Amino acid sequence: GSDVISALQFTRSDVERLITIAEELRRRLEAGERIEAAKGRILFTAFFEPSTRTRLSFQFAMVRLGGSVVDLGPEEVTSRAKGESPEDTLRTVDSYNPDVIVVRHREPGFASKAAEICRAPVVNAGDGYNEHPTQALLDVYTIWRSLGRVDGVSIGLMGDLKYGRTVSSLSYILSNFRDVTIYFISPPALRPREEVLRILDQRRTRYEFAESLDEVVSRVDVLYVTRLQKERMSPEEYERLKGSYTVSYESLRKYGRIPLIMHPLPRVWELTPDVDVLPQAIYFEQARNGLYMRMALLKTILGV
Ligand code: CP
Repeated sequence: GSDVISALQFTRSDVERLITIAEELRRRLEAGERIEAAKGRILFTAFFEPSTRTRLSFQFAMVRLGGSVVDLGPEEVTSRAKGESPEDTLRTVDSYNPDVIVVRHREPGFASKAAEICRAPVVNAGDGYNEHPTQALLDVYTIWRSLGRVDGVSIGLMGDLKYGRTVSSLSYILSNFRDVTIYFISPPALRPREEVLRILDQRRTRYEFAESLDEVVSRVDVLYVTRLQKERMSPEEYERLKGSYTVSYESLRKYGRIPLIMHPLPRVWELTPDVDVLPQAIYFEQARNGLYMRMALLKTILGV
């Protein structure tokens, strides 16, 4: 069906088509056009884990397409506070006939489970450490907008590559393109999970490991920084790894050439706000691209 569960579902031409649609929608909105393609359609956003960008950009995207949004709301105003399971909540809301459901949950595989429960198409907005496919789409869209191409890109993925779900999904999307090189920059304890590397091997995507940015900075077009996923590790593990990689204005200044800096956000200590002034800092533009990419995705799923 039209469920979006994994970044592995997307072929190169799917990604290219979505980029074309996103660009067209951006042009129409920037020209002041009012779009009504999704008029009468309803998006239900079910976030069982916190979110700012994914939840709100999906909601803005649906409204900008002329559709409507219903949101699950915080735990205390729903029967989750009385112990209702997320499965029962979804089963119930699905019976009210939403046209698409966007779901985030801390359990890996939850989106796939939700898709089995629900009649409406389900979009994975993050399932634990596993995947975040729509983030990867907006990331690749951002790379394409900034460099004019995705083929041949050399990218450093830095930080928590083990529990960071954007890393696996982005690696999968990038593996559709030619001559991509991925540098995984992290402490050894935070290297990507085996399943991610296995898929890159199968798809013959080049990757290397590094422990510091110094080793690879001269070879990357893009540096993609990620947050240490505190909520997915033990307090001891967090304390041990906290501060083990930080990108700041000071740390970047010593390089002859500074790559484009991306980050899925939210950021905490790993990317300091003094980096924001650099022309290479494109993470807020990246977040904004999420609006257009999610409009393109909703338009495609709804067939409008
Ligand atoms: N990048 C991202 O998923 O951000 P949120 O957690 O704020 O949705």
